[in-house]
This record gives sequence, structure tokens and C-alpha cells, in this order.
Amino acid sequence: MFEYRGFMLDSVRHMQSLDEIKKLVDAIALLGFNKFHWHLTDDQGWRFECDSFPELNTVAAVRPYSDFGKTRINEPYGRVYSKDEMREVVAYCAEKGLDVIPEFDVPGHTSALLSAMPELSCEGRKVKIKTHQGIFKDVLCLANEKTFEVITAIIDEFLEIFPGEYFHIGGDEAPSHHWKHCPHCQKRMKELGVKSYAEYQNCFMNRLIDYLESKGRHCIVWNEAARGANLDKRAIIQYWKEKEKPSIDFINSGGKAILSPFSYCYLDYDYLITPLNRVYSLNSDIPGLTDEGKKNIVGVEAPIWTEYISDINRLEELLFPRIIAVSKVALAENNKSYTEFLCDVNEIRNRLSSYNFCNEKMWTKSRTSMPLGWLKFVKDHYTIDFIKEQLF
Ligand code: ACM
Ligand code: ZN
Repeated sequence: MFEYRGFMLDSVRHMQSLDEIKKLVDAIALLGFNKFHWHLTDDQGWRFECDSFPELNTVAAVRPYSDFGKTRINEPYGRVYSKDEMREVVAYCAEKGLDVIPEFDVPGHTSALLSAMPELSCEGRKVKIKTHQGIFKDVLCLANEKTFEVITAIIDEFLEIFPGEYFHIGGDEAPSHHWKHCPHCQKRMKELGVKSYAEYQNCFMNRLIDYLESKGRHCIVWNEAARGANLDKRAIIQYWKEKEKPSIDFINSGGKAILSPFSYCYLDYDYLITPLNRVYSLNSDIPGLTDEGKKNIVGVEAPIWTEYISDINRLEELLFPRIIAVSKVALAENNKSYTEFLCDVNEIRNRLSSYNFCNEKMWTKSRTSMPLGWLKFVKDHYTIDFIKEQLF
């Protein structure tokens, strides 16, 4: 059994009520999970009530409209979870045997933060909170000492609410565009003697890791951070991007990892793309990992991103039963045949009868329909304009 058995919920792109979160926590606790990773900051919103920088609770929390794929909603969306609400989630999770791991994603995925605090960007200009999906160029200026001061002050507030051992500092999808054009970042890179933007990013991540270690917390980072070979080995990488040689090297040379390969574990993908049998087939046999490396896999986690999931019924439908397969992998109870596993699913389904399992025909489809699945996904969610914008 893996010591880290996690589930991640994105409460930025769409929020969930406390009752909805608690109901999900009930299910994952019953399935043997012990970590609830709560994604609270991103380009499209800010969900953590912050006393030191109150503009985060107003400006950064609310996007003017939502344009996720084909369903544009012309209304302001979002708010922060209050400190009392977050404490309530932490207490509820603790009762059920789960630690909450908050995620404050830096230095990318920070458009919402920068919409309230543009002085932390390279150009110091107003940044727009985002209303659609994507990877955005707006990142923190890492040469500005104020960036570190503000981020650590916010982290201090997170630590008051979330007492657990782990803290997620993101590290994914941080384009270097602004760093290339920022004289301060260029100067700082020379001073640091780093050869790549990945290493430059990690000088900042490593400072945060050091800071959090000094507070008795261990950091988790998305696995792009391992692209800079200087990543502090005290951090655990969350392996979502597959076929990443630097991540494999990190793990083989003693770094710890949590498995979340997106083509198995991202439960926001349609069943046609990631059917139940695909999820159940996940294991630690990642090409390139040595036997020693495999020992450094400390956990398994299934994220659910919510750009296209605005209601809890849809979220449950995507989650159940695939989250059962993830739990079996995390508990190392995936040695049974798939047919036997399906019997278990039926039995567990009875115990989870208040959750939405309505996608039955989809579950049993094989992955041979994957290209069709992607076609359907793209057709259902993306407009031609969005695709053009991403490609060109
Ligand atoms: C991620 O999916 N950007 C971690
Ligand atoms: Zn800069």
C-alpha cells in the first residue's frame, strides 16, 4: 500500500459548496484515501481568504465572466472560501482520516494573484484575471525580492489554516516569456549562474522549499519542476506529465514522487478517453524507472480539474467509478483480474449509492475509441476560436 493516497479537487475554475466537498470526502475516506489536495489558486480565480492582502479576496477572487469552451456565462464568478469554511473542511477531513494539502500554485498560474498585485509581475502592469482555459504567460517576477516576501507572507496564512505535513507549491506550466524580456530577471539569472529558465524557476521554488522545511512542512511540486536539474530533493514531484526524462532521473537518483500520470489519473477526461480499465491498469512500471527508483514512488493521486465541470452531478459522474480504480492502485489491491475488480465495483457502488454513477455504458468501452473520445471532447468543449488561439 502506498503511504500517500490522494484525491485533488480544483475549486478555482468552478467552486463546490462545503456540503458537496464533505460528501466527496465521505466517499474518498471510505475508499481508503488519506490525502485531500485542494487546488485553491489559479489563473481564473483565487479561493483563499487572505488577511494580509485583502485585494486578493475581491479583485483576484472574481472573474468578470466565464468562457470555458462553448458555454460562455456572462456573469461575474467566484469568491474566496472564508477561513472558517477552510477550517471546517480541515476538521471534517481530519475526522475522516484525511490530511488536507493546500495548493498555492507559483510562479505560473498566477494571473488572478497578479490581477490584484501587478507589482509582482515582470512588467508591473495590470494583468487580467483569466476567463478561459489555457497556459498563460503571466508569471511572477522572480528577481523582485518583494515577490518572495509576499508569497511567504501568504504561505504563513495558509499554514495557520492547514496544519498538515505537506504543502503544494505548484510549479507547473510557467512560460519563460516575461523572464526573457525582464532586465531584472536577466540580471538575476547571471548572478545565480543558472543556464536555463527551468533552473531559474527552481532557484525560487528551492527557496520556498527551504522556507517551508524551516516551518516543518514538506513540499510537493508538479513534475515540470524537475526539468531544472537543481530541484531540491526534499520536494516530492507529482508525476502528471508523462515521458519526462528529467522526472525519471529525479526519481532514480533518490527523489520521491507521487503518481498522477494524466492519461490514467486525470478524472476530468471523458470515459471515452480514459475508460475504467485504463485507470485500473496504472502501476509503477514507468519506462526508465529502475527498481531503486520504483521504491521512491510514495503515492498515487487522482486530480479532477473543473474547467468543464460546473455542477456536482457531472463531477460525480466522472469520478465514480474511476476513483475506485485509483483507490485499488493506491492500496495495492490491484492484483485481481479486471473482471473481479468489476465485482468489487458493484459491491462498493451499493455502499456509495447516493453518488452519481450514471455513465455505465461508457465505463465498459475500451480505449480503442480514444481518438474518437478526444474528437468528442474537443467538439463538446472547444470553439474554433479557442483552438486557433492555442495553435497560433
Ligand atoms: C497540470 O495539469 N497543469 C498540473
Ligand atoms: Zn522579472
